[in-house]
Amino acid sequence: MITRFEKLSPDNPDERILEEAGRILRNGGLAAFPTETVYGLGGNALDSCAARRIYAAKGRPSDNPLIVHIAEISAMEAIASEIPEGAKILAEKCWPGPLTMIFRKKDIVPYETTGGLDTVAVRFPANRIACGLIRHAGGYVAAPSANLSGRPSPVTAQHVLDDLDGRIDMILDGGRVRIGLESTIVDFTEEVPVILRPGYYNQSFLASILGDVRVDPGIMEENENVRPKAPGMRYRHYAPKGELTIVEGPRESVPSAIAKLVRSRLAEGKKAGVICTEETRACYRDGIIYTIGELSEEETIAAHLYEVLRAFDAEGVDYIYSESFYTPRMGQAIMNRLLKAAGHRVIKL
Ligand code: TXA
Ligand code: MG
Repeated sequence: MITRFEKLSPDNPDERILEEAGRILRNGGLAAFPTETVYGLGGNALDSCAARRIYAAKGRPSDNPLIVHIAEISAMEAIASEIPEGAKILAEKCWPGPLTMIFRKKDIVPYETTGGLDTVAVRFPANRIACGLIRHAGGYVAAPSANLSGRPSPVTAQHVLDDLDGRIDMILDGGRVRIGLESTIVDFTEEVPVILRPGYYNQSFLASILGDVRVDPGIMEENENVRPKAPGMRYRHYAPKGELTIVEGPRESVPSAIAKLVRSRLAEGKKAGVICTEETRACYRDGIIYTIGELSEEETIAAHLYEVLRAFDAEGVDYIYSESFYTPRMGQAIMNRLLKAAGHRVIKL
């Protein structure tokens, strides 16, 4: 299959190309598109064959449900039932935006899209290209992140091309995404809403609107007995090819400990790398060093995380050592992804 690659203006996308992409989806095909979080791989959410194609293109297990993307709030009523008042308020406040909500599904949504579950995940993304595509495709687009299963999520169209060239019909290039981490997922099918995946919106923000919100205990644990409720959070994920280790401890001792680990790997004849911040960059000399952003500006860290992990793959690095980034607002989301990428390999000083 030849994958068509189309560059679009993020502010004023060419309507004809969006229409063509929409037609591809209506006909059961697949197109990748930008959202404000990461690039998504879209197919018609109400078409079971399209859902199967998405799993095949990504190499993703088919019991891992897809998020249905909509382009107006009222569209959720046709696919979801038992929508509590809190969810409606949250939709008004946060949509379009980096929030996914889970409800009981209506029959119109095929089990292929929901990975066999009776619930459906719904999200209204804040991106003109995404919303234009969704409208032209008929209003309901199933889209996982547009990476090969197990690879870091794509934050540029080039990342999508690197993973899915020849496997999908079209890629819409809308430039670099704004946030760089996947949406916050909140499950509304339980008595008290539960955060299944942390993201841009954190627990204290959600609690300020909903009152009570719990966090799925499986999110930050590596304990096999505490299984995350979102099937996708159970898989090894976001993984670079090299072995990633997080080094945690007092701020003044972490860089020297990492520098020492890197030197010992280099002495073994291995390729070793470092993930650090602008604030600590000067502490490192050896190995392949990537600055992820500024600790004082957490948005920069979220925005660069996946790109840095992919960059190490391109360099063929064997061992990667990372500082930890427990920043105030998005720290839980950033560390959730980094811990998964590291397979929970952490050295505590
Ligand atoms: O920001 C995002 O959410 C991006 C963009 C493209 O919108 N999408 C994304 O999709 O991250 P994906 O498929 O990579 O991650 C979806 C997560 C998976 O962990 C999946 O298991 C979970 O959502 N999920 C989807 N439907 C669910 C359901 N009904 N119940 C529980 N978890 C669900
Ligand atoms: Mg994903």
